[in-house]
Amino acid sequence: MRRAGLIIGLAAGAGLLLAGQLRAQDGPKSVWDGVYTDAQAERGKAAYTQSCVFCHGPDLAGTGEAKPLAGPEFLSSWNGLSVGELLDRTRTTMPQEHPGSLERSAYADILAYLLKFNGYPAGPTELAQRSEFLTGVRIDAFKPDALKPAASAADAFATDAFATVADAAPNSQPNPYASDTGFFKLPPGRTMGSSSAVGVDSRGHIWVADRCGANNCAGSPLDPVMEFDGKGNFIKAFGAGMLLFPHGLFIDAHDHIWLTDGHSQAGKGAQVFEFDASGKVLRTLGKAGVSAEGPDTFAEPNAVLVTQGGTIFVADGHTPGRSPQRIVKFDASGKFLKQWGGLGASPGQLEMPHTLAMDSRGRLFVGDRGNNRIQIYDQDGKLLDSWRQFGRPSGIFIDKADVLYVGDSESRAPVGYGHNPGWTRGLRIGSARTGQVTAFIPDTEPNPDKQSTSGAEGITADRHGVVYGAQVLQKAVVRYVRK
Ligand code: HEC
Repeated sequence: MRRAGLIIGLAAGAGLLLAGQLRAQDGPKSVWDGVYTDAQAERGKAAYTQSCVFCHGPDLAGTGEAKPLAGPEFLSSWNGLSVGELLDRTRTTMPQEHPGSLERSAYADILAYLLKFNGYPAGPTELAQRSEFLTGVRIDAFKPDALKPAASAADAFATDAFATVADAAPNSQPNPYASDTGFFKLPPGRTMGSSSAVGVDSRGHIWVADRCGANNCAGSPLDPVMEFDGKGNFIKAFGAGMLLFPHGLFIDAHDHIWLTDGHSQAGKGAQVFEFDASGKVLRTLGKAGVSAEGPDTFAEPNAVLVTQGGTIFVADGHTPGRSPQRIVKFDASGKFLKQWGGLGASPGQLEMPHTLAMDSRGRLFVGDRGNNRIQIYDQDGKLLDSWRQFGRPSGIFIDKADVLYVGDSESRAPVGYGHNPGWTRGLRIGSARTGQVTAFIPDTEPNPDKQSTSGAEGITADRHGVVYGAQVLQKAVVRYVRK
């Protein structure tokens, strides 16, 4: 699995081109080349102590939600990206309560201190204050092999260190989580049905759309869309009679609850709903009961995602081997803009685009479940990368810090549906930036090869890193907390 490395390598290549235009192509290529001075790092330490130490700690190890800025977690999440990207990220988001409040020189100095603290050598010139000059300076976690001549930027990037990141044996990562299957307290008489739809709103409330205590809401009087507080207490529910088969749930920047209904019958289904938090329907996309591929209809809408700016993406097509299999893009008013994909296994094509997520750089992650891969597109449908190291994706969630959570509910050995030999079902957690998988929570179903689904199909995490997996077979939403 070297594609991830290659693509980021190509991105680094594009960075080199830009740097070339700035006549800096002969400058440093990586953090190993001595890209800051000792005096600058000293100043950076003082600035860090003033503006960052409160949250990130004196040893840069992080405290609470503030991430570590040194050590393996930090390095694996930035490995392969550029110092320019780290500078931009820091200047536009930090210090958390007053982003951009420091002088440009102070940000550069603090970065110099971070590089020194992480063991990278000082050199003769100071780190530039403008990220444009730093796009060609790669953060290589491990020292590149100086004897290996690099034919191209991509080759230079495909170091063994990175290869092990993506080539790690499937299912081999540690499971640092404890699971809780009884967290959600439902109203008396009600039990959790099958679910693939879970999300957390800005207040930390958890929203679950179950399939009305069963695996289908048709004819049920129950309210499938349920709100729980952060302790798992039931708050309220709505949606009775409106949905047949709640499938994909997304909570947007206004805490509106978006849901797809994957089934259809006369006058109902095959739609996308936008609810406000009180349960009022703000709008629908698609035509109720019309299952078809069109600019204003869906066949089987699996998932919906809304960007900060309001652009809407819908993943459509749940039947293997049958069209449509597409991503549909709408503007914020709901006007159809374009679609892409198409049935197949070639790069960019899709089979069961089951789930959607977006990283902090605005890349759209599509769980191309039938092809056992995640496809990463730009927002106009250009394929940027294709990852297999997260298994067969039914659910994908990416948090604000680009931690990637993927639920694999289908991998199995026998030839036929779900065929993905060597991969076991469960939740894989890693980095949306580097593609590294760092944790694996195995599914608990003892006979996965006899079941077409088990474990989480829907997945989310709150801002403390607590993970929720919504399960179809087990009819449960399980909470996972770091041990
Ligand atoms: C009020 C607390 C707070 C302060 C002060 C603060 N940070 Fe952060 N920082 C956070 C939190 C929380 C995160 C994780 C969430 C996020 O990425 O936005 C974070 C994330 C980061 C990250 C991203 C790490 C990664 O790998 O994703 C960097 C880099 C960073 N901070 C640098 C800084 C620097 C440099 C300063 C000082 C100028 C600073 N922070 C001040 C709370 C803080």
